[in-house]
Amino acid sequence: MNNYLDNSNKQIKLAMMFVTGYGGESYSWRFSESDPKAYTNIQTYIKLAQTAEKGKIHMLFIADTPGITGSGVNGDMGRNSPMFVMEPMTIFSAVASHTSKIGLVATYSTTYNLPYNLARQLKTLDHISNGRIGWNAVTTGTRAVAYNFGNEPLPDTSTRYEMADEMVESVQSLWGSFGKDAYIADKQSGEFINMEEVIPVNYQGNYYQTQGPLAIPPTPQGQPPIFQAGPSYEGIELAGKFASGVYANPFTIDDAKHYRMMLKESAIKHGRKPDEINMFSGFMATVADTYEEALERRYELLDYMSENEYNEQILYLSAMISIKLSEMNINEPLPQFLQDQARPNPRDPRSNRAVELIKKGLNPREVLANGIINYHPVVVGTPDDVADFMETWFKAGATDGFSIVPESQKGIEDFVEKVVPVLQERGIYHDDYEGDTLRDHLGVPEQYGIRK
Ligand SMILES: Cc1cc2nc3c(=O)[nH]c(=O)nc-3n(C[C@H](O)[C@H](O)[C@H](O)COP(=O)(O)O)c2cc1C
Repeated sequence: MNNYLDNSNKQIKLAMMFVTGYGGESYSWRFSESDPKAYTNIQTYIKLAQTAEKGKIHMLFIADTPGITGSGVNGDMGRNSPMFVMEPMTIFSAVASHTSKIGLVATYSTTYNLPYNLARQLKTLDHISNGRIGWNAVTTGTRAVAYNFGNEPLPDTSTRYEMADEMVESVQSLWGSFGKDAYIADKQSGEFINMEEVIPVNYQGNYYQTQGPLAIPPTPQGQPPIFQAGPSYEGIELAGKFASGVYANPFTIDDAKHYRMMLKESAIKHGRKPDEINMFSGFMATVADTYEEALERRYELLDYMSENEYNEQILYLSAMISIKLSEMNINEPLPQFLQDQARPNPRDPRSNRAVELIKKGLNPREVLANGIINYHPVVVGTPDDVADFMETWFKAGATDGFSIVPESQKGIEDFVEKVVPVLQERGIYHDDYEGDTLRDHLGVPEQYGIRK
């Protein structure tokens, strides 16, 4: 195995996705144990964060798009919680004061923000949390968002990535504009700030301009580390240049290895060490003491779907396995000759898994319940099943860690109580935090201001 990918002396790093107050699965708000109005209840977020911290999860992660995006198959807010609701920094501001170790990574668009505001808010929050904040700098590809910020259509991908480059560069420059030792506050001498160490940035980009300085001293981790999400060539360039963490969504070990390799090579190209960039592969889990119990929860989610949504899922599964299912009894395994005919759809990387399960003799409804149409690979099963998935990927060198998307509020507790001890027993997950800041948790070097 290539050296950069070798994980033999490493342990898994974990991000827990903080998706609304409910969890990552559509309709999880309807589970009997879910608080149906959780998304506006900050106490719910605080409790979930404290649970994740008990499990020594390295960081919480809030994906965000400043616009309405439904989590339902049709994005139907009438029946389903929207995906991105309360504002990430504001949530973390409350969560930070009720936790002490866990990292807090918030997503902010590089297309729909201004550098001075963002630099100021993130560094303030980094102080509030004692150095636990990260910024997931995303370019945002959603047209609905564009119209929330004016009447202009969404800029094209390369423009958005040029803007991203300028945004991260100018924010980091602002962070570094207040020198490391500039904060004096000496009552005796009367010197408050050493003005020789406070230097305006006078940033003049094509898209963003800012003068600075930003009068906020370094935080316990200097400044927040950068995360990135978006696998295009430009995305990998941006990550290689700036990111300490990348939120990724590969579906197979081979794809993940290839992507991870490209990220590490991009870091090297930009004068950094391969270990300075950590890939977090998304995966979703429904965990219970038995597979049957976990499956029951997944069936319950399918039952909450409208007839239309359910039919669409069947249609989609048909396309994934190249077999028309609409007139079949989908509660029975396919006859052997059809199982033999099942072929993955080359345009959808999730199809391989769908075909594998069909050929194992699972009926199509059970295949759907295994989450094969989800945004990430899904594991439905026992704590050992979930740990096996993680260990296999990790030992193959496919990833530095995982972004776990728990199915529901209960899913966070189940992961922490049932899966974390198994990972620890196997020696592939830490017993305690390595330090106090997010940079400590990530094992990435100190950085202050723009990297030269
Ligand atoms: C795993 C993953 C997570 C993402 N999360 C977000 C997000 O939370 N908010 C957002 O606006 N865009 C998000 N994006 C979209 C990216 O920011 C980007 O706009 C999009 O993927 C197009 O860039 P690309 O061509 O590099 O993929 C995400 C993309 C990926 C792959």
